[in-house]
Amino acid sequence: MDKTEAQGPKSGLAGAMEWLDKRFPATETFEYHMSKYYAPKNFNFWYYFGFLAMFVLVNQLITGIWLTMNYVPSGDGAFASVEYIMRDVEYGWLMRYLHSTGASFFFVVIYLHMYRALRYGSYRGPRELLWLIGMAIFIALMAEGFFGYLLPWGNMSYWGAQVIVSLFGAIPYIGPDLMEWIRGDFLMSETTLNRFFALHVVALPLVLCVLIFVHLVALHHVGSNNPDGIEIKKNKDENGIPKDGIPFHPYYTVHDIHAMVVFLFIFCAVVFFAPEMGGYFLEKPNFEMADPLKTPDHIAPVWYYTPFYAMLRAATFPLFGLSAKFWGFVVMIGAIVIPMALPWLDRSPVKSMRYKGSISRIMLMIFVISFFILGYLGTQAPSKAGTIAAQVCTALYFAYFILMPWYTRVEKTQPEPERVTG
Ligand code: HEM
Repeated sequence: MDKTEAQGPKSGLAGAMEWLDKRFPATETFEYHMSKYYAPKNFNFWYYFGFLAMFVLVNQLITGIWLTMNYVPSGDGAFASVEYIMRDVEYGWLMRYLHSTGASFFFVVIYLHMYRALRYGSYRGPRELLWLIGMAIFIALMAEGFFGYLLPWGNMSYWGAQVIVSLFGAIPYIGPDLMEWIRGDFLMSETTLNRFFALHVVALPLVLCVLIFVHLVALHHVGSNNPDGIEIKKNKDENGIPKDGIPFHPYYTVHDIHAMVVFLFIFCAVVFFAPEMGGYFLEKPNFEMADPLKTPDHIAPVWYYTPFYAMLRAATFPLFGLSAKFWGFVVMIGAIVIPMALPWLDRSPVKSMRYKGSISRIMLMIFVISFFILGYLGTQAPSKAGTIAAQVCTALYFAYFILMPWYTRVEKTQPEPERVTG
């Protein structure tokens, strides 16, 4: 008989936990992922955004469920049901603004989360798979936003989706059939709206939740990177605990709650005082109902897609007998997927920008500036000067990746420290 059995069953909460643990690994899971998960002690500002992404996801799921309760996915009903939610449903306006603002904030948070990985080399081994899962999340998130944007059935929803779906038409041979298959009709119609609705409220949220779960499992298996880009698991004490690690709970749970409060101040300020954000979060033509006979003056996607949209429009000439539209499509898809190759493009002996040389730093800076300029250009009506600027920025965007094997090898780096610094 062991000691616990000799003492008899425990009472109260301890007893309930004992009962649960015999049937489900509750304490074990909590310890593995929280109280005995040792995260580097030098996390900084850039390490807030993974948690914030989860927070925004929960916001999107909850407000999305409430919106679905009153939304009608039909050609006649969609636009009117959104108006109904805004005017007549109790707090419907709040649910909608939390959801639409949440979509934009999701991308702000994700772009910052990805930038952190570029800054500290978090995509490098042993985190290649973690990075690839992250990229899959990013692509799923872009699809989720795209499908959701059609649902209010406003004029920009209609024409924006029309432009993107018509891109598939530029693929040789299968293009026109593929386009029809995606729409389920010869033009954007209620059938398209129905399937986008199904994808937006069921399929993609499921895919996202599964991917995020796998993302976190992979992260906790390899352990977090940190601003110094060194592995804390290489320096353990006599109990096998990383010397530079601190338990995630309570240290980083408190740290993340702090981030959540600050985030909520900013988020609520936008929700309550500027939910349209001057037409960037909710575009003006979307306050009119979808009209197949009236194209908006200037079709532009929401801001978070505009860098890629600008790259799409930067391809202006046909090549090898294929149309400029086709090449634009290739450039846009290329720009979205090329970061997947990063773990194998970066040949530097060090991971973090703190110890990389000046070429890496300059290239990262040029990459970020080009991305911003492209983002701006994508919101503007096409012009000659704008197209040239977009072409230059597209070249710089790709140069960051394509030249990486060269510049990370030739530049002079600084030695990494043995232990994490501040
Ligand atoms: C809904 C989307 C996402 C959620 C909820 C999420 C969640 C998280 C969380 C909680 C962490 C640990 C905390 C942190 O390091 O900030 C993390 C780490 C990480 N994520 Fe994500 N993530 C998402 C999307 C992405 C995307 C799109 C990428 C990249 C393409 C990515 C790449 C990474 C990497 C490389 C790490 C490890 C960073 C390090 O240890 O330095 N994640 N993620």
